[in-house]
Amino acid sequence: MAKDDMFEISDDPDLLTKYLDFDVYYRSQGHFGLYKKKGTTFDPIRVKFGKLPEKLYISRADRIYLVKEKTRELNEKLKRELKKDPSRAKNRITEVVALSLSEPRVEVLEDMKDTIDIVVEEYLASPQVLKNLVQVSVKDYTTQLHLTNVMLFCLGYAYYAGFNEKDMRLLGLAGLLHDVGKVDVPDEILIAPRQLTDEEFQLIKQHPKKGWKMLKSCKFDDIIPICALEHHERLDGSGYPDGKIAKDLCESSRALALVDIYEALTNWRPYKEPMLPVSALKIMKSEVEGNRLDPSIFKEFAKSIIGLTR
Ligand SMILES: [Fe+2]
Repeated sequence: MAKDDMFEISDDPDLLTKYLDFDVYYRSQGHFGLYKKKGTTFDPIRVKFGKLPEKLYISRADRIYLVKEKTRELNEKLKRELKKDPSRAKNRITEVVALSLSEPRVEVLEDMKDTIDIVVEEYLASPQVLKNLVQVSVKDYTTQLHLTNVMLFCLGYAYYAGFNEKDMRLLGLAGLLHDVGKVDVPDEILIAPRQLTDEEFQLIKQHPKKGWKMLKSCKFDDIIPICALEHHERLDGSGYPDGKIAKDLCESSRALALVDIYEALTNWRPYKEPMLPVSALKIMKSEVEGNRLDPSIFKEFAKSIIGLTR
């Protein structure tokens, strides 16, 4: 078996209990051997004397199964928490995103749809749900928190702009997945409180194409990978990765670009304090006037922000 077909579980604190129903492997001289058959426990004598192999593995297929199971469990919790405990619910969404990003395979990414379905259902039943989630402030920066926030603002925009339910779900999902291409960019670069080197910036600039490649293998509407590809493009051609111009950019990508910028301005980053909504909208307005962001989408977006934050 190739290394990529296996997943290391040695550091899992639940190692001894979690993998009873799974085959567990060890590695010796570059080859994997079966250490424990599924349905059996770890040898209690070896456990007692700390003699388990230093590195243990399960198959990638079993890992994906476990991630999907865990996602289902988190989504169930999210369903219960959305109305009564917004701050826990927001954490729960970031947990689902972090879990998916830790194993960003097609089968796992496709489950993000379930999370959107749960949030949209609750939102349509009670618009206050989204306001509460938006207003929970978290002093942290991680890709999963950014994706969660962007998803929430996308749903708010879709709601205030009068999208139908299907398009609202699509834009929410695009928001939740648009940066999956960042999975291989180290956190140290993403949160660097300094100017990035050319090399680092080149690495970051690859994430739209990488995300597009990952998402186009999923059973999603085409708009999802397209949004990942185009969310850093600008109407005047000054964006990346392809320097597309207005006529090449779909409406959802234009909306996502706005939401992405707003999130970056108004949320905490290790090197800056969050900006007030009105100041962020002012900066974005100058981008609209510079012909980089879409004016009519900006108008609707500003309305949604006023609605969500007052
Ligand atoms: Fe991005």
